[in-house]
Amino acid sequence: MSETTRKPVLFSGIQPSGQIQLGNYIGAIRNFTLLRHDYDCLFSIVDLHALTTRQDPAGLRRKTLELAALYIASGLDPEENIIYCQSHVPQHAELAWILNCFTYMGELSRMTQFKDKSARHKDNINAGLFTYPVLMAADILLYQTSLVPVGADQKQHLEITRDVAIRFNALYGDVFTVPEPYIPKATAKIMSLTEPARKMSKSDQEDSYIALTDTPDTVRRKFRRAVTDSDAEIRFDPENKPGVSNLLVILSVLGGERMDALCTRLSGQGYGVLKEETAQAVNAALAPIQERYQKLMADKGYLTAVLKNNAERAQMMALRTLRKVYKKIGLYQLP
Ligand code: TRP
Repeated sequence: MSETTRKPVLFSGIQPSGQIQLGNYIGAIRNFTLLRHDYDCLFSIVDLHALTTRQDPAGLRRKTLELAALYIASGLDPEENIIYCQSHVPQHAELAWILNCFTYMGELSRMTQFKDKSARHKDNINAGLFTYPVLMAADILLYQTSLVPVGADQKQHLEITRDVAIRFNALYGDVFTVPEPYIPKATAKIMSLTEPARKMSKSDQEDSYIALTDTPDTVRRKFRRAVTDSDAEIRFDPENKPGVSNLLVILSVLGGERMDALCTRLSGQGYGVLKEETAQAVNAALAPIQERYQKLMADKGYLTAVLKNNAERAQMMALRTLRKVYKKIGLYQLP
């Protein structure tokens, strides 16, 4: 990132919890790879966010490295982009504290993700879960981010980030860039294979999602078992035919064929054909990623060096913003 060719900043993050699945790839990482040349990109492994639910320490360490490998294997470039771990840049937590003092309880109480998560984990409604969006705002604002690619479920968190930035700027001058969300329409939501009315999620049962590390046979088996409907017509209609439409979305995106052309080509065919083609498209997309992923996971030294070097690059950017914030709000500066 040379001074002369500075581009707008893009920031996004994924939690190192659970297994990464096809929905994350199509909805998130794949879009990152499409945008990576047009922005100065930071792709974070948001391990501090993961702590809002109980994590097994060894598992968290392993998943952190796996996610780093997956980012790179998917086509992000740790020389051009910044691929790093949130906890390696202490400025995230520091700015989060400051922003906590500029965010209202009422705003945070309205967050649907907080309401959902606290309903699902009644035994662990911790303060971190409540202030999760503030840490997310800190992630984004720390780098003067312009664009934030996220899934539709994160839209509300982006809105609160913007509100906090605007509030802070109104008090102290233009300190933060006010970011825009980027929510890709058609691909934002890949649905479960077994319950196609729900979003594909790695916390559901195995057969409902495609893990990015599934073997070709497993992928084929999962698609063969995917829930469709009984009217045996291949047509894109997410409302009435969520299962079939979900397969069509996956096939269209990964096969690079427009939805209308795809539907015309497959009209009159059975669901077996649709499932087989979708499985093949998924396997073709996953094969090169899996090959690179295995190589990376066998070279922990390389991955660690990347994380270290990239955390240093991120820190340089983060410090610039944090110093400005500290100064503006009146924290006494040492020479
Ligand atoms: N909350 C996001 C999610 O669960 C992850 C995340 C954390 C994030 N910090 C971020 C996404 C900053 C975009 C920008 O998907």
